[in-house]
Amino acid sequence: MLVLGLETSCDETAAAVVADGTTIRSNVIASQAALHRRFGGVVPELASRKHVERLLPVLDEALEEAAVSLGQIDAVAVTRGPGLVGALTVGVAAAKGLALSRGLPLIGVNHLEGHIYAGFLTAPDIRFPVLALIVSGAHADLVRMPGHGHYEILGRSRDDAAGEAFDKVARAMGLGYPGGPEIDRLAQQGDPKAVPLPLPMADGSLDFSFSGVKTAALRALRGHEGDQRFLADLAAALQFVIVEVLVRKTLRAARTLDAETLIVAGGVAANSWLRAQMTRRCEEEGLRLVIPPLVLCTDNAAMIAAAGYYRLRRGERSPLSIGAESELLLQ
Ligand code: KG4
Ligand code: ZN
Repeated sequence: MLVLGLETSCDETAAAVVADGTTIRSNVIASQAALHRRFGGVVPELASRKHVERLLPVLDEALEEAAVSLGQIDAVAVTRGPGLVGALTVGVAAAKGLALSRGLPLIGVNHLEGHIYAGFLTAPDIRFPVLALIVSGAHADLVRMPGHGHYEILGRSRDDAAGEAFDKVARAMGLGYPGGPEIDRLAQQGDPKAVPLPLPMADGSLDFSFSGVKTAALRALRGHEGDQRFLADLAAALQFVIVEVLVRKTLRAARTLDAETLIVAGGVAANSWLRAQMTRRCEEEGLRLVIPPLVLCTDNAAMIAAAGYYRLRRGERSPLSIGAESELLLQ
């Protein structure tokens, strides 16, 4: 089954063709990062307008790269939330138009479910129960997945998500947008112990709270702006504490749940220190770890097509009345 995936939840306009939920035939991503950079973050109105401009050219490119025509597509999967409502609406409207005009089944996909399915695209032989850590610009969620399409939320971010903390501190440090990759790069030259930051364990729960450490980092920065040595140390310290909490809580949950596989997904899963630490600690614990390659960690439409495929395979369809839902819950 060839599924066309569309993703427009934030500032990436993306289309992909995936065969049988496992083989990526094409995965085209047009990033708007350059457009939003001078504002220091995503401007929702601009993002929606750019999606309108770019979505059909990106779709054409995805079909061309996959060497298929629209007539060969079997179903359309689209992100319907969570995300920026105006941005999501562009993708949902396009998907509905395609489904209606071609008589194709339509499936609306939760963006977070998409991030998890980047794991299934990476390793199709994943065994359940799965524990998934989704770390992105807006989320830090720990999810137990007993089987395809079933989710139990074990913990979530109570305030700032991990990516948000990286982006906000990076912005104050005068680094570019998005800040996560800049912090990752700069941290490689820094000493994580040189700037003391609190380890944000929240409490004994599996929830995350990164707003305190973000504020502590912003306070530490005062008076040191422009000091390259200090900036590198601060980036390393911030990255160290955020990753440490993510790793500790995730491994604690994996032990308690007796998880077979851990999937780490979402934009922050592209972080090199997080990838290295998760790999080392999972090896020590004998836990199978799946972290998608970088291009499948950050927003893309292949993950949406894959998640959609597993729903379609179970006979699920979305009505043509679906809309975008900015706060859509994973369930
Ligand atoms: O999943 P994603 O592309 O979009 C959302 O769904 O939010 O995640 C974007 C987030 C941004 O906060 C970005 O700074 C962060 O992922 N990010 C990183 C890295 N690459 C992207 N954070 C830390 N290190 C990275 N290498
Ligand atoms: Zn995302």
